Amino acid sequence: MDAIDVIVTKRDGRELSAEQIDWVVDAYTRGEVADEQMSALAMAILLNGMGRAEIGRWTEAMIRSGTRMDWSSLDRPTTDKHSTGGVGDKITLPLAPLVAACGGYVPQLSGRGLGHTGGTLDKLESIRGWRASLSGEEMLGVLREAGAVICAAGEGLAPADKKLYALRDVTGTVESIPLIASSIMSKKIAEGTGALVLDVKVGSGAFMKDAGAARELARTMVELGTDHGVTTVALLTAMDRPLGLAVGNALEVAESVEVLAGGGPADVVELTVRLAREMLAAAGLSGKDPADALADGSAMDAWRRMIAAQGGDPDAPLPVAAETAEVTAPATGVLSRLDAYRVGLAAWRLGAGRARKEDAVSFGAGITLHARPGDAVREGQRLMTLHADDAERFPRALAALDNAYEVGEAADPALLPLVIDK
Ligand code: URA
Repeated sequence: MDAIDVIVTKRDGRELSAEQIDWVVDAYTRGEVADEQMSALAMAILLNGMGRAEIGRWTEAMIRSGTRMDWSSLDRPTTDKHSTGGVGDKITLPLAPLVAACGGYVPQLSGRGLGHTGGTLDKLESIRGWRASLSGEEMLGVLREAGAVICAAGEGLAPADKKLYALRDVTGTVESIPLIASSIMSKKIAEGTGALVLDVKVGSGAFMKDAGAARELARTMVELGTDHGVTTVALLTAMDRPLGLAVGNALEVAESVEVLAGGGPADVVELTVRLAREMLAAAGLSGKDPADALADGSAMDAWRRMIAAQGGDPDAPLPVAAETAEVTAPATGVLSRLDAYRVGLAAWRLGAGRARKEDAVSFGAGITLHARPGDAVREGQRLMTLHADDAERFPRALAALDNAYEVGEAADPALLPLVIDK
């Protein structure tokens, strides 16, 4: 087999054979196919697409490049959630222990933030002592102890994707539905979950800016999961404004703990409960209702067990940034819109995110929102508090917030419903 043949096949808009896919993914993982050849192939895939059979075979080849986890020794079903990422999207934090409290096992492999979107591992690392890296045996131990585990994917899980994703990131080939779907699903299938709920975000703060593209991505991932024996459902949800009132690592942990204590912003609670019900239904579990597990403290108990089992102190104070700045309402009226991307960009510039994979994040940095689209506001009232370790970060963050919000007579009628479709 020859890399140039494979590239030319896709360049000319033809379908890749199963043998071509198996060979090129394996040869790339071993270093026999060079980065520049894989970049050309990724660009040909981005421009010419792949059919269902090709995407399925590509996903299988990526799964086979590494190990597949096995939870068959557990006495109850496993179920997981994956979000395509957004601003203020801390849902995994309350969701995993909530589903555990309702009888599911949640083996969640999560990632770090890059660019304007946050990452679950960065958020949890703001808890003193908490460890993201666990062996397979340690994961099983935490699952048995707490019913849920959230950790980093080990080196052995879909190594082909690890290499290819880093290459796509620097070659303008991230935004391809076949490549995104196979990347996400190869990791989720290799993770070994029996059921999966996908939260596909739509709007300025998401990968997919419009509902049409998000729907196609969702359908592709549901087909991949189903074809591999994982009960998979997808929700399309709003990411045109931030989720909840906190954006930034420790700020989002604090908001998640509020939700687990039975409070928290209405949209975070609604989405957490909805996703929990979907995860339990997909796993065939019909015991306790998630709303009851938030109210009776059992979800909070599962959270405390999960954090402690990974070395964290659930009672430790969370990091707080040294400096704050306020953004106030320019007029009296209704906050008509608040752009998710711009708020995410501002939080990133405050230090909540990283520009390169090796950068450290600031745990205390971020933004607290004091009003949401649709809320009445008075001129001079606080709209946002910015948090940073260093006041020099404020001017660039404030520049990102130019045009991020508007005060008018009513909420923008174009605002998306929280759950757009299933
Ligand atoms: N997340 C992934 O894991 N892979 C992609 O390609 C895009 C988002």
